[in-house]
Amino acid sequence: MKPINVGLIGVGTVGSGTFAVLRRNQEEIARRAGRGIVIKIIADLEVDKARKIAGDDTLITADANDVVTHPDVSIVIELIGGLTTAKELILKAIENGKHVVTANKALLASHGTEIFAAAQRKGVMVAFEAAVAGGIPIIKALREGLTANRIEWVAGIINGTSNFILSEMRNKGLDFDTALKQAQKLGYAEVDPAFDIEGIDAAHKITIMAAIAFGIPMQLDKAYTEGITKLTREDIHYAGELGYRIKLLGITKRTSKGIELRVHPTLIPSRRLIANVEGVMNAIVVKGDAVGHTLYYGAGAGAEPTASSVIADLVDVTRMHTADPKHRVPHLAFQPDLLSNIPILPMEEVETSYYLRLRAMDKTGVLADITRILAELNISIGAMVQKEPNEGEDKVDIIMLTHLTVERNINYAITKIEKLPAVMGNVTRIRLEELNSNHPIKNN
Ligand code: HSE
Repeated sequence: MKPINVGLIGVGTVGSGTFAVLRRNQEEIARRAGRGIVIKIIADLEVDKARKIAGDDTLITADANDVVTHPDVSIVIELIGGLTTAKELILKAIENGKHVVTANKALLASHGTEIFAAAQRKGVMVAFEAAVAGGIPIIKALREGLTANRIEWVAGIINGTSNFILSEMRNKGLDFDTALKQAQKLGYAEVDPAFDIEGIDAAHKITIMAAIAFGIPMQLDKAYTEGITKLTREDIHYAGELGYRIKLLGITKRTSKGIELRVHPTLIPSRRLIANVEGVMNAIVVKGDAVGHTLYYGAGAGAEPTASSVIADLVDVTRMHTADPKHRVPHLAFQPDLLSNIPILPMEEVETSYYLRLRAMDKTGVLADITRILAELNISIGAMVQKEPNEGEDKVDIIMLTHLTVERNINYAITKIEKLPAVMGNVTRIRLEELNSNHPIKNN
């Protein structure tokens, strides 16, 4: 059978990785796909660079429109990222009857519903394994491998840059700024690292996973997003003393009231496998009602790991492109006319446990005042530590772990605690998840 022709838009890190892996493993890939997969044309503004990577047998153009309209191209790979141009090109490719493979998580999390609807109308596939957690086949696992399950929750370390920073802070006792500089020096963090450290990149990825796990539309605008910039060495240290590590987690959970969709620093027990995922690596835990907990671990970025996912999609599309569109795996795992409108819960209604740290005068009655405020709001304390005051000081750090409570209650409690005359400054609040069942810590 003749090879299938592919057009590649963007020959940066992942694009050149895709080219290299396709070339190196072409025989094995063809044996799996049933035919060869050939990159026929590449679009990149840096034409000379593209020529150097691709050699003389591939058409090179600076105009991506040449790729999405090329009559011999069956699959378009979009690897330029961003929202505007990438969206126009993907919609144009779909309009021209091309299947699309993309790593563009920001675009799918924001405009996925529109893009999938266009693909549906045209009977083409939009595949996006590389959009979430680089080389980890988590989309395949959620969409196909776990298809028997009612998925209860998904929690993942899905931003390698933040995980590297948190690992450096814990292992070397660095503060946030120093660890960030280290990440930048090693080329992990972007020059503008906001997407990584403010949790935005992770929000894109958890939004996509929530859609597939629960059969809901992409709803990035409803995701709660909090990054790691305010975390201190002290909190990482105290969490460690209590048997926890702090990770930036993307979490999505099915509850009786709606779907939780959130990204924030989270204490998780040190003994969990996922707590031991260090450096730039990614890992995702999925809890299904039948299978229980499953854990997926691997490289969340990088040229060849991400190319591994891009090529897996190319093989899938190559195998399935002649199939009746109704018999393919739906984009969001569930049939498009059977998506659920179960609401995303506002963060104030999310129920979880909390780590609280505050600085207070070391005198009689202070703890009683604090615990009274918590008790009045039905917030139960799971653990508490009061540090010895430093020599000559009359103020102490108090650290508390709460049982489950709704976020609205903890916010109200914090406001009241901060007003106590014996409490100095703000209360630090970090959410805590046990990750061992549907509910973190059972309330007493
Ligand atoms: N910037 C991302 C990370 C990689 O640090 O994990 C691409 O999603």
